[in-house]
Amino acid sequence: MTSITVNGGRCLKGDIFIQGSKNAALPMLAATLLNRGVTKLYGCPKITDVSRMLDILKSLGCDVSWENGCIRVDTSGASGHFVSEACAGQMRSTVFMMGAMLGRFGEVFIPYPGGCTIGKRPIDIHLDALRQMNVALVEDREGIYGCTKQILGTVIDLRYPSVGATENIILAAVTANGKTVINHAAKEPEIIDLCLLLNKMGADIHGMGTETIVIYGVEVLHDAEFTVSGDRIAASTYLAAAAVTCGNVCIFNVWEREIKSVLQVLAQMGCGIVIQNKRVRVIGPQMTFAVDQIHTRPFPGFPTDMQSQMMACLTMANGTSEIYEHVFEDRFKIAGELNKMGADITVDHQKATIRGIGQLHGAAVSACDLRGGAALVIAGLMAEGETTINNAFYVKRGYQDICGDLKFLGARIEERKAQVV
Ligand code: EPZ
Repeated sequence: MTSITVNGGRCLKGDIFIQGSKNAALPMLAATLLNRGVTKLYGCPKITDVSRMLDILKSLGCDVSWENGCIRVDTSGASGHFVSEACAGQMRSTVFMMGAMLGRFGEVFIPYPGGCTIGKRPIDIHLDALRQMNVALVEDREGIYGCTKQILGTVIDLRYPSVGATENIILAAVTANGKTVINHAAKEPEIIDLCLLLNKMGADIHGMGTETIVIYGVEVLHDAEFTVSGDRIAASTYLAAAAVTCGNVCIFNVWEREIKSVLQVLAQMGCGIVIQNKRVRVIGPQMTFAVDQIHTRPFPGFPTDMQSQMMACLTMANGTSEIYEHVFEDRFKIAGELNKMGADITVDHQKATIRGIGQLHGAAVSACDLRGGAALVIAGLMAEGETTINNAFYVKRGYQDICGDLKFLGARIEERKAQVV
């Protein structure tokens, strides 16, 4: 098993280009199924979740290759409608293969989706929407089977602005018969990226990035090339690490508007922030201030995917901070691991209270999900001595090269592969 060791006490300094967005690349790879030819995606991150999505496409008969910095997907030979458990690999993003596969084949089977254990993660919103679009769905212990003679456009009122459900509906709607309106749609930047790709492929989508998205079904989509946007969560993670190491780091390839809510919190913590187009610099203070309350919300609110990392950052702030997690019901697991490093965090249902302490100390800790793992890396950068982070495979699901990136910025950090004896 891979682990990461960090020796704290270094200030992070430098400029760094941010990898492509995991949460944009995954639905875009699903979207390639809707074009019976070749789609090329530039800037996809080399992470395990992308590799797993490529395995799924290959298992369906697609010809997939990395070439000259892009992923080339030729779906002309695709025929399967069955996603195996082995391929699905407990990923959450398996679920929006449904919309793409129903649009392409009119039939789909997927195992129940997995993903980080940050809550129950039901898919009722997805299934309710697909049923409204003339899809017959049958669930059994193994997974979900769906089929339709023709997907029909309709008006869908989401009870919650689910990112994945919004993406699934869009993927099903682009070649549907008629017009689909999604009310209370998710507004995350990843939704905009997906729609821009689909429109480049010949789809007819309007209103992406707002809470009402309108999709006019078209007959077919065609070949296209597209560059995936920078990963706003990876960018926020590195800027937060700069904030708490008295650092001076400039990230590029992410728009300030995509990380505005995170920058607002970093400013409250006493950071200097300089913005120039797609370049954002954070200068960390000698001592960070506590933040009264942080509430995670759908975009443009504070992102739940930065909650664990911010919890780590606030462990040595001057004062007491509170974090309220409103998106997932079980996303404070990392508090226990941070407390092993000397943090003082108490959790009460959806509220975590972080009492700033003088100094974290290195320890052997374990990641329990992707962003929790990133939080432990940040804590290791802040701590005195050496921290070993086990289960580092979680981190590799979403960060292309967190060790290489942070080492480039001056951190003492190494990835270690366990010796197979
Ligand atoms: C996407 O997950 C992201 N994953 C998550 O990022 C991110 O945390 C989340 O959106 C919120 O921004 C990918 O894009 C691959 P949701 P998703 O549907 O689509 C409930 C990371 O670290 N819900 O917006 O699964 C759900 O339980 C990952 O990169 C239902 O109740 O998120 C949750 O409480 C973690 N029924 C809330 O909605 C449903 O049918 C938000 O879920 C669907 C969701």
